Amino acid sequence: MDNEHAVYARGLVKRFGEKVALAGVDFEVKTGTVTAILGPNGAGKTTAVRILATLSEATEGEATVAGFDVRTQGHEVRRRIGLAAQDATVDPLLTGRENLVMLGELHQMSRAEASTRAEQLLGEFSLLDAADRRVSTYSGGMRRRLDLGATMVAHPSVLFLDEPTTGLDPRARNELWGVLDTLVERGTTVLLTTQYLDEAERLADDIIVIDQGRIIARGDARTLKRELGGDHVQVVLVDAARLPEAERLLAQVTGAKVTVDAGIRSVVAAASNGVDTLVQVATALSSAGIAVEDLSIRQPTLDEVFIALTNSPAYDEPVEASPEGVRS
Ligand SMILES: Nc1ncnc2c1ncn2[C@@H]1O[C@H](COP(=O)(O)OP(=O)(O)O)[C@@H](O)[C@H]1O
Ligand SMILES: [Mg+2]
Repeated sequence: MDNEHAVYARGLVKRFGEKVALAGVDFEVKTGTVTAILGPNGAGKTTAVRILATLSEATEGEATVAGFDVRTQGHEVRRRIGLAAQDATVDPLLTGRENLVMLGELHQMSRAEASTRAEQLLGEFSLLDAADRRVSTYSGGMRRRLDLGATMVAHPSVLFLDEPTTGLDPRARNELWGVLDTLVERGTTVLLTTQYLDEAERLADDIIVIDQGRIIARGDARTLKRELGGDHVQVVLVDAARLPEAERLLAQVTGAKVTVDAGIRSVVAAASNGVDTLVQVATALSSAGIAVEDLSIRQPTLDEVFIALTNSPAYDEPVEASPEGVRS
């Protein structure tokens, strides 16, 4: 282990009885950088984070965080990390300020120190207006910002964020991304997990793609896309009801796997013959009388990269935000 890596993991295996949650993964996070563990539900993301945060022991393998062994030096590790778990950790019956002060006191600060730190964090996370309201009245986005603030109380050098924006609406997501930018600029090392490829691309220097407990690809977003290469043809329909037909046509013309995004009435597939494919697709759609709003050739998105790598979509169902904006 060295100072270059805030997180260093080798051969991590986690079994729950018969179930293999992690099948032997190696990865590292360079100090001062953001790394995303990207994978679908059940890939093993939370399991990996819990091991690194000393909440769970690996069945095999070893890991250090901030230079300390998670198995034998858990106390040293815990003093240096912040963890925003998938389920909110703050108390909904307390106000935002009360939550932060309480955490400061738990970290052995005096009442005065804890109050000062709380005020500072409320400002940084844009929660001053809501500081003295009960957390139960917060929106999902506000709650996630408070969660983040809570993890920062004791100035951790390594931050673990388990699906920080799952269940948030696009605006709240953007706000949270902005807050994370600020943390990173200040030198905090971040390991985050996400099911969203655009989130990994937006936030992370390095991306580790996992599926079923194994690492299936890694690199920055550009490298992952380049490795897959190839143009994609995208069709946006006027009428969502015609999506299944368009999907069939596109599959016929391209011979490739088709991705459907009902939310934006779009079908996408790899276009091995570039513009020729585009023309064929246009002709086929036109003969079938399917009205098209937009038709284009472009580089693959990370979503498409993921589908090509795993042969399965990154997530099966669109994520519905629960009233609290938090999903387990
Ligand atoms: N305590 C547990 N007991 C049994 N199986 C578990 C437990 N925790 C996680 N798993 C299983 O391990 C796999 C990985 O889970 P998890 O790390 O939570 O995935 P992710 O966070 O990527 O959605 C899943 O198949 C999950 O059902
Ligand atoms: Mg998880």
